[in-house]
Amino acid sequence: MSTKPAVFVTRKLPDAVTARLGKSYQAQLNPEDRLLSPTDIVDGSGKMGADALLICPTDKMTPDLIQALPKSIRAIATFSVGHEHINLDAAKARGIVVTNTPDVLTDATADIALLLILGAARRASEGEQIVRGDQWNSWGTTYMLGVHVTGKRLGILGMGRIGQAVAKRARGFDMKIHYANRRRLPPDLEQGAIYHANPDDLLPHCDFLSINCPASPETYHFVNAARIAKLPDGAIVVNTARGTIVDDGALIAALKSRKLAAAGLDVYENEPKINPEYRTLPNTFLLPHLGSATVETRNGMGFKCLDNLDAFFGNRPPPDRLV
Ligand code: DGY
Repeated sequence: MSTKPAVFVTRKLPDAVTARLGKSYQAQLNPEDRLLSPTDIVDGSGKMGADALLICPTDKMTPDLIQALPKSIRAIATFSVGHEHINLDAAKARGIVVTNTPDVLTDATADIALLLILGAARRASEGEQIVRGDQWNSWGTTYMLGVHVTGKRLGILGMGRIGQAVAKRARGFDMKIHYANRRRLPPDLEQGAIYHANPDDLLPHCDFLSINCPASPETYHFVNAARIAKLPDGAIVVNTARGTIVDDGALIAALKSRKLAAAGLDVYENEPKINPEYRTLPNTFLLPHLGSATVETRNGMGFKCLDNLDAFFGNRPPPDRLV
């Protein structure tokens, strides 16, 4: 009989992560990457007598599900920095330790934010469709004009690790950084960025608005019609954080009226079932939640999950413990 702790894994993992997992744990894997229902998770983890779950943002850990988990489960490691899919209060009430994967996805996500800024501003999606559709007739002085990025003002909503990494990259485009954050950063991190204590006061300064704050009840539909009205005409909104921060109806209306020049989106409310109107708009640049999707980053996230589980089962404090 194995003395290794038993881990129930809800989604397919990168090969390098699976290989390391197998060395220290008895693992129930999901190589077909089937989306598991709450019943699948409860029954599967119960059947193997799991000590821990390794989950993803696609697994909604509601209070009911957490309550129904087998008593053997003592830890949940989520393969994500975002943790709004886990009811932490319910986990805490059950005495289940929860960990996430900060830091390792900062650069990859900030890279995607810059891709969205450039792609939305320079009409990359329309341009690509024209070339692929063999509809490109000629170069022209007024053909496919976009919005200039260099030297513009970038407002960053949420100046945590990822927001700061976006600012660092944007400085390479001579962008002037404004930001809103719960706390003002010290000068060495702020690096000349202009702080707005009230996020509403940030909006008039945003030629570009980059959303980098966590999803929470406070940020739910923060970008709504009233706040979009405070952005300069022709502004561009990019979101690499969570779809719930944006009121889709308001954003779509502003893109249709051209109040906003464009939007670059990597995340959506109810993804992957996104509001279908986004697909019909020429001024959207749309990606399918690719923020952390590089081989290096996904391996790093998986290894962080394992570092946290190793610490937990080794009776050491998990480095990324949430509760
Ligand atoms: C996270 O880790 O929260 C990301 O959204 C996954 O890319």
